[in-house]
Amino acid sequence: MLDVRDLKKSFAGFLAVADVTFSLLPRSVTAIIGPNGAGKSTLFNLITGHIPPSGGQVFHKGTDITAAAPHRICRRGIGRSFQHTNIFPGLTVFECIQAAFIAHHGRGRNIWGRAERLYRAETDALLGRLGLADKADAVAGALSHGNQKQIELGIALASDPDILLLDEPTAGMSAVETRETIGLLRSITEERGLTLLFTEHDMEVVFGIAERIGVLHQGRLIALGTPDQIRADPEVRRIYLGGH
Ligand SMILES: Nc1ncnc2c1ncn2[C@@H]1O[C@H](COP(=O)(O)OP(=O)(O)OP(=O)(O)O)[C@@H](O)[C@H]1O
Ligand SMILES: [Mg+2]
Repeated sequence: MLDVRDLKKSFAGFLAVADVTFSLLPRSVTAIIGPNGAGKSTLFNLITGHIPPSGGQVFHKGTDITAAAPHRICRRGIGRSFQHTNIFPGLTVFECIQAAFIAHHGRGRNIWGRAERLYRAETDALLGRLGLADKADAVAGALSHGNQKQIELGIALASDPDILLLDEPTAGMSAVETRETIGLLRSITEERGLTLLFTEHDMEVVFGIAERIGVLHQGRLIALGTPDQIRADPEVRRIYLGGH
């Protein structure tokens, strides 16, 4: 589904991502972990075209998508959410999701026409699936952080992706919101047959849902394996888990 080969990013000589290579099988669930500044968000931004790599390649289903424009990569079926929540704070929850459907279907230029009539049923269905139906008319920016993250997930899902890249999907959430969000992610991923790649600092979340875990340290992928392999990896324990 995704092939990342020798991907590299240097910022003025500082190597934030160094020769990262991995691939994702269809319907797999993979977490990328690593300390602050390890290069996780940079890696995601390279994959989704938000910053150009200094070297290496990204293939989606065999097609080279290296450094393609983010909207093209999104249209191919790679959806994402950001570490810092990225929604339309002045729109209602309904409008946020509806706008995402319209944008994906190429009616964005016609948004001031009869946009309000478009994709209503799809929007209602997705809001229901996300548990946001009762908040449809609320202004998105006024909702809790957890709800805003759920809206962002909805915006990503409206583009009907086959791969979802989520950068810290539960960051800043309460324990209850985290559990709900993870439950939702698991069931939606399964239902839609999605391939999931996510970063996360919450190890309960990581070891709870990932089938494979990659460990980034100073831009390098120092380990990639099953949760059991990662738990037992001496280098990971030393560098990342503090040896305990
Ligand atoms: N645009 C940029 N210009 C210069 N340096 C950058 C830029 N973006 C990121 N960096 C640096 O690259 C390194 C990796 O940053 P990145 O945000 O990818 O880490 P991260 O693993 O996502 O960290 P966190 O867990 O805190 O989100 C850091 O040292 C950061 O300061
Ligand atoms: Mg980050």
